[in-house]
Amino acid sequence: MSISLTRSDFPAGFSFGAATSAYQIEGHRFGGAGSSHWDTFAATPGNVARGENGSLACDHYHRFEEDLDLAAAMGLDMYSFSTSWARVLPEGRGTPNPEGLDFYDRLADACLARNLKPFATLYHWELPSPLADLGGWCNRDIAGWFADFTEVLMRRIGDRMHLTAPINEPWCVAWLSHFLGQHAPGLRDIRAATRAMHHVGLAHGRSIEVMRGLGMSGLGCVTNHEYAAPADASPEAAQAAQLYDGIYNRWFLGGFRNGEYPADVLQGLEPYMPVGWQDDMATVSAPVDWLGLNYYTRKLIAPGASGLWGDLAETTGDLPQTSMGWEIYPEGLYHFLTWVSENYARDLPIYVTENGMSADENVANGKVDDPDRIDYINSHLGVVQRATIEGVPVAGYFFWSLLDNFEWALGYDKRFGLIHVDFDGMARTPKASYHALRSALRR
Ligand code: FCB
Repeated sequence: MSISLTRSDFPAGFSFGAATSAYQIEGHRFGGAGSSHWDTFAATPGNVARGENGSLACDHYHRFEEDLDLAAAMGLDMYSFSTSWARVLPEGRGTPNPEGLDFYDRLADACLARNLKPFATLYHWELPSPLADLGGWCNRDIAGWFADFTEVLMRRIGDRMHLTAPINEPWCVAWLSHFLGQHAPGLRDIRAATRAMHHVGLAHGRSIEVMRGLGMSGLGCVTNHEYAAPADASPEAAQAAQLYDGIYNRWFLGGFRNGEYPADVLQGLEPYMPVGWQDDMATVSAPVDWLGLNYYTRKLIAPGASGLWGDLAETTGDLPQTSMGWEIYPEGLYHFLTWVSENYARDLPIYVTENGMSADENVANGKVDDPDRIDYINSHLGVVQRATIEGVPVAGYFFWSLLDNFEWALGYDKRFGLIHVDFDGMARTPKASYHALRSALRR
């Protein structure tokens, strides 16, 4: 099976990359990293499948050269990684861990040595435990702590970053983790969630300001998006889908790009917002240079049983599903590219910063066949190409993920990689999708 489009089907300068994140691949126990709230969330029974955690993960901390060799051999233009706050600042503040700074310094150089442009995300979810003790994302001070972390790290590696985003998927940082309780810190509290929904934007803005002050460019924001369709033809389902769309898709882009939160969501959250939040909106909407969209699937939405504001029931329809139980719906990606372009981008370049699928896969005779992933890539790259032809300023596309890795609360059996990882021996085996992309990306 092959990838039906090749490099030449995309505009000149269009970039292809693959993405990973620190806690999911590095091996958090190495190199003097401090405890993070993902370590303690995972150590609490019932939170992560099979009690797994990111302590060893893919051992990328020791194997990053080999992993980058594979990324470069595939013909990628960029490599998207994240940096662990707890690795750089084990206490969250104060004295940096020199080994942590050295690691990201070597990683940046190793990317450049292979002609991979580095794309760094400062925060992909491993909050240092001492900051979690102080209330984490519920505490307004986190904006200053995050600004300080940004300064410490980017003074060291900022000169070599091609793209940088402060925070990956603010919806997951705030709503999934403080309202739905599915990710660390596992809270289910509307006041905590609301504060996190605001403080994550404030921290983003402060971080952007710090990086501007350091003279950096290529600064963006990365939001994740799910297409929300009503579960049935009732007006209640339509309203529920609209609210889901607001919380998930419109809140952060509204803040980042327009300095305004959407009224339908604000109506439910306003009673819990921190006093004086309006004064922060100029910081939340600090100018950025590009927008990044992560996209995987759609959900069918209906009102939840409680009748409480924000209670929304999620189901799936009859489209083919990945091993995550996520429906495969490329039209959703097309929708978000055009919608973001019309409503938020104002001519800024748009990147698809994550897209991909998990499947159950094994190595047989040294090979991994993943025809479903090749199909998934074909259908999603197809709509990206369609958008570029129609004039949407899409500048690049990143596969999630370079490697099979620790898929958060679902642990290690959700395999998203273009490269298979044997978590016992740590052997890397490029899958058929990797080889297909390598042919498609050849210059
Ligand atoms: C995204 C996350 C990434 C991974 C993929 C499957 O929401 O950013 O870490 O979990 O989903």
